[in-house]
Amino acid sequence: MKREVKYDSLRDWLALADGMGELRTIRGANCEEEIGALSDVAQHDEGAPALLFDDIPGYPKGHRVLVNAFGGKRQNVILGFPATLSKVELSTAFLGEYRAAKAGRVPFQVVDDGPVLENILEGAEADALKFPTPFWHPGDGGRYIGTGSFNVTMDPEDKWINAGTYRVMIHDSHKLGFYISPGKHGRIHRDKYAERGEPMPVAMVLGVDPLTFLIACSAMPSGVCEYDIVGAYRERPLKVVKGRHTGLPFPADAEIVVEGFVQPGATAPEGPFGEWTGYYGSPGDEAPVLDIKAIYHRDNPILVGCPPQRPPGESSRSRAILRSALIREDMQKAGVPDVTGVWAHEVGGARMLVGVSIKQRYPGHAKQAGHIAAQCAAGAYAGKYVVVTDEDVDVSDLGDLIGAMVFRSDPATSMDFITNAWSTALDPRIEPERKKAGDFTNSRVIIDACKPYHWKGEFPKLCLPDPDAVARAMRKFGHLMK
Ligand SMILES: Cc1cc2nc3c(=O)[nH]c(=O)nc-3n(C[C@H](O)[C@H](O)[C@H](O)COP(=O)(O)O)c2cc1C
Repeated sequence: MKREVKYDSLRDWLALADGMGELRTIRGANCEEEIGALSDVAQHDEGAPALLFDDIPGYPKGHRVLVNAFGGKRQNVILGFPATLSKVELSTAFLGEYRAAKAGRVPFQVVDDGPVLENILEGAEADALKFPTPFWHPGDGGRYIGTGSFNVTMDPEDKWINAGTYRVMIHDSHKLGFYISPGKHGRIHRDKYAERGEPMPVAMVLGVDPLTFLIACSAMPSGVCEYDIVGAYRERPLKVVKGRHTGLPFPADAEIVVEGFVQPGATAPEGPFGEWTGYYGSPGDEAPVLDIKAIYHRDNPILVGCPPQRPPGESSRSRAILRSALIREDMQKAGVPDVTGVWAHEVGGARMLVGVSIKQRYPGHAKQAGHIAAQCAAGAYAGKYVVVTDEDVDVSDLGDLIGAMVFRSDPATSMDFITNAWSTALDPRIEPERKKAGDFTNSRVIIDACKPYHWKGEFPKLCLPDPDAVARAMRKFGHLMK
């Protein structure tokens, strides 16, 4: 199915969401408690609208905060598809169009001007506290201005530009802290600057259209600028302006952008922060500090919030759509044939529980599929459980997936374990001692829940009724069952 992305800026998209009846404005909620609490309620409710907070006490009218942008059927429109597609259809449609976009990247276009330059603040005026920034969770160590955001960095060696979502906390008016898990592209850039003893330029985009955000927070290939995939997907280049101090490109119609430098070795305590696992992952560790050089913002700026929370919620649902597609793409690239379904389950934060279905073609096919799903680029980080089953199981249905695991696997012989795998300090199950030692690895289990290949013909048949018989009986008696 062909995509049609009908918006460019966040404001175009807000008009679309409003037209769908999926946007509400809430006036007078505060940043200390109320916006965070309401966001949590909205994000857990699959049918909840996007919420735009205005008239926030202590801030100028018009300085707004948007949350739950990616919920409900809005994600279909964000990715350019009809609202009628189910989550699995949407993921499949996205995969087809993403493949095309990745093959024909459209480079970003540098322009001289754009709405983000309506206000340019430098020196003492460049004050991060001027924007309403909620305490998202009661135990957060600070106000997190970067959640529905991304950080732009450049590889100091190969000079490629990366855009990745990494949380950003306000230390004070002119300093921000940010956390990047080891292995993420921004972290590799950061480590390279540190090795060279050079300051790292960073631009933080704190509100942008939802397509650019979703691509920035997804595992795109190393060496590829996310902007070029956004351009190809949208079929027109992403227009960017360059920061005065860093020269880094950021979307010309972004809402708020902060740019500055991280000095080698400069750190401050960052966190704790309520994370996508639903836990405060790390107690609050030293993390690099950005010295703000300039802030750019539109008139009446909108800070986009996508605070992580206990799954399933807004971000695990939208990430399930993209990550399931990206794992499937990686499996195909790795040569695994006949993958019929992949679902990165919302309840596992779209990372820690992945269901895969295959049409088994040869002995060992299931093992190959499971190990590759667990270790491919899109699936390797912070995974835990991979369940591989047959093509007759809808792996996006949690009940069906767990049912297949229970009835088609044999605990003593169906499981493989991988140890010391790529994970994160945010995993609540990694022991404090290992975290202190910098060991953020975890283990994985690959559960082969396929009918064993060499006797699958003899595997007991499912006792399902004949669908025609069900239809006939329902026609006759269904009304009595309502
Ligand atoms: C709302 C949200 C917040 C995120 N916060 C972080 C974070 O603080 N640190 C991190 O390393 N990854 C975070 N991620 C995940 C990364 O954005 C994601 O892994 C992305 O692919 C990283 O970009 P990269 O592949 O270019 O490194 C977050 C994702 C989302 C959706």
